[in-house]
Amino acid sequence: MQKMDTVVYDAMHVGIEAAQAAGKILCDMLETATVREKAPKDLVTDADIAAQQCIESRILAAFPCHQFLGEECLQPNVIQAMTSNVEWLWVVDPLDGTVNYAHRMPNFAVSIALMHRGQAVLGIVLDPMAGELYVAILGQGATVNGRKLQSSTCTKLDSALIAASFPPQVQKDSIEIAQFVDILVHSQSVRRLGSAALNLCYVAQGRLDAYWAGFLKVWDVAAGALIATESGAILSRHDGKPHDPWGGELVVAGSEQLHRELRCRLQAVEQDAC
Ligand code: IPD
Ligand code: CA
Ligand code: CA
Repeated sequence: MQKMDTVVYDAMHVGIEAAQAAGKILCDMLETATVREKAPKDLVTDADIAAQQCIESRILAAFPCHQFLGEECLQPNVIQAMTSNVEWLWVVDPLDGTVNYAHRMPNFAVSIALMHRGQAVLGIVLDPMAGELYVAILGQGATVNGRKLQSSTCTKLDSALIAASFPPQVQKDSIEIAQFVDILVHSQSVRRLGSAALNLCYVAQGRLDAYWAGFLKVWDVAAGALIATESGAILSRHDGKPHDPWGGELVVAGSEQLHRELRCRLQAVEQDAC
């Protein structure tokens, strides 16, 4: 246990420095980055690549025996291998919110998580434009710029501000759009902010009362999910089963009551569509 705590604290310092260095690269390249499509509406820029290289080199220099999974260096067989029981695995999204970034909208983040045998033990999310650094260690709470985070106490859907994420190729007649319309009508309002990692941090901070998504990747959520749960938020799959960071979907809310109400509505729409 002593050894594990030491690794996690050392990792926190290295991870924060890597996030800050990557955040500086993103800010420096904001006006000049070149953008291309990996798939329709799924963007990558040369800033994503530069930020990831910066993070990877710092982390592997400090922890040469650890594994590294970054969004921009992937082959499908590599991802598969990573899902197995690796002892120490860093999961990194060098730029979450690429569409915002490509349009020079300031809502984007660097997301860095450390997993121990499949469980996130450290989460770091940096919003470099706002200068907000979110950090959580498993079992030790979450902070923003050193201040303790506490999720919202809102218990009612009709007074809740909620965010949603959609996949890049969302279809007109899809369940996601039906869910969006349903929650828009029944909540105070719904936002689509463009960064899953920041949505999770905003739930941790109480800026958002809840957030749901259906198609996320492990690098979108691994850090933010820990930050949200360490701030007291409730997180699960849409069916209420435990959240799996490799599983794609999540529903998270500051309070248990709001989580239940939101989850029930999302599920009711899913079942209606069956
Ligand atoms: C995306 C963002 C977005 C979510 C997408 C993700 P990227 O990540 O988190 O909010 O809706 O599903 O792919 O591509 O900007 O790293
Ligand atoms: Ca992402
Ligand atoms: Ca990304």
